[in-house]
Amino acid sequence: MAPELTRLATGIPELDAVLRGGLLRNRIHLIEGRPGTGKTTLGLRYLIEGIKAGDSCLYLTLSESADELRATAHNHGWSLDGIDLVEMLPLPPGAPAPQTILLPTESELSELVDRLAERVERSGAARVVIDSMVEIRLLARDSAHYRRQIIALRQRLTQMGASVLLLDDVTSDPPDFDLQSAAHGVIALEQMERSFGAARRRLRVVKLRGGDFQSGWHDYAILTGQVLVFPSLIAQEHQRDCPALEICSGIERFDALFGGPLTAGSSTMILGPSGVGKTTLALQYALATVRAGHDVGYFNFDESETTLRSRVVAHMGEGEVENDGSNEDGEHPRHFHLRRVNPSRISPGEFIWSVRRLVEDRNARLIIIDSINSYLDIIREEKSLLPQMHELFSYLSNMKVMAIIVGAHSARLDTSKEPDALSIITDNIISLRYYERDNVVHKAICVLKKRQGKHAPDIHALELTEEGVRIGARIDVADREAGASPLEA
Ligand SMILES: Nc1ncnc2c1ncn2[C@@H]1O[C@H](COP(=O)(O)OP(=O)(O)O)[C@@H](O)[C@H]1O
Ligand SMILES: [Mg+2]
Repeated sequence: MAPELTRLATGIPELDAVLRGGLLRNRIHLIEGRPGTGKTTLGLRYLIEGIKAGDSCLYLTLSESADELRATAHNHGWSLDGIDLVEMLPLPPGAPAPQTILLPTESELSELVDRLAERVERSGAARVVIDSMVEIRLLARDSAHYRRQIIALRQRLTQMGASVLLLDDVTSDPPDFDLQSAAHGVIALEQMERSFGAARRRLRVVKLRGGDFQSGWHDYAILTGQVLVFPSLIAQEHQRDCPALEICSGIERFDALFGGPLTAGSSTMILGPSGVGKTTLALQYALATVRAGHDVGYFNFDESETTLRSRVVAHMGEGEVENDGSNEDGEHPRHFHLRRVNPSRISPGEFIWSVRRLVEDRNARLIIIDSINSYLDIIREEKSLLPQMHELFSYLSNMKVMAIIVGAHSARLDTSKEPDALSIITDNIISLRYYERDNVVHKAICVLKKRQGKHAPDIHALELTEEGVRIGARIDVADREAGASPLEA
């Protein structure tokens, strides 16, 4: 491999995946974003990873003090041992600071750049972080002056052969193009407030000179002790060959109505109003899949933890249910993976990533999303609903996973509106509904669409019992008029 293409791990494996291997060794990268987007955090991860790899590491801070940085790292549970932490702060008058390079505020920009470069040269560090460039820009008289200094800094840093991260606080639009063009690679961090819930973070590789990377936006999250990046999904990059799989619901009458089993790679929408039995029917397939010895991922956006757990345990039995990854135990591998998702806190990228983990790490063959309505709320703001869902369904299909999507709708099916609009891109549609007779509310079920094979066109009575779903007799006009109970087969 040519030396300029050697890659360097960032300390965040999924970011390395987005960068198709990592940052460019011996090159300068710019990390830009507004205050609070996580630049400093990224810089710390990068150097901690360097120490792990045996590199000498230098953190030059022009904004936060070394103590503040140590406190941040401490809160994350990270140690900065081994990292050369150097403050280059403007000093309050008279303050003693033996470890600090004195920097009078009125000093020339060229002098500062000189000191910075000198400090890096002296350290001979392999990995360097400069936090942040804003302090340098503030000292510039004008843009030509600034540009000259940036070019000078770039030259000296490049000569040293260090792998440098320049952190830059973006305080204006457009961003600093001088810095962008001086750097070999640029990563932009963004934070968006949502109308409700946690802020949404996403990042994008703007450029990586002479290197491949995954373009577009990728969601990320900063948790205590962890920076998680969720590379966006490209369905066509994923393919899986695995044995054919067919799963019957286990309810004979329903399988007859549906015209056979669910097949690997198919997607099925279960639509109906609240409380009609959509989840119960979906869990029926989950149970059958688990009994066939396969893993199931069940993503629940709606119900509270305890209600949901007791419902699932009633169907599966305690031994099969693994709850949010917390009580997995090696002796009894559990096949049913219950994931409670809080729609106001998760990003679409993170959700898709957790689906992928179950598919790729646990070989899950059935994924249930219950319900899609709450999920739609998260992505509706971005107006990329159908493309995103399409990518997810294509991915599941390529991976030979069965998908069941539960969708609530209040009225008659209207395929111009969500979630019904989604039914256009699913293979099968099962519709559940209420109807009234003799002042009593009854339930009915029918299959509206099946892409492969034939289904029965009939509408049947539906009843929910302790054991799950029960399908009654065919409902037709004659029955209704005679007033016979539709469940008396
Ligand atoms: N211990 C922590 N646990 C979780 N999140 C944290 C923790 N410490 C900082 N953060 C998050 O990291 C962000 C600050 O990142 P930082 O790297 O300082 O941003 P920047 O350098 O871009 O201004 C904040 O939004 C904060 O929510
Ligand atoms: Mg910072």
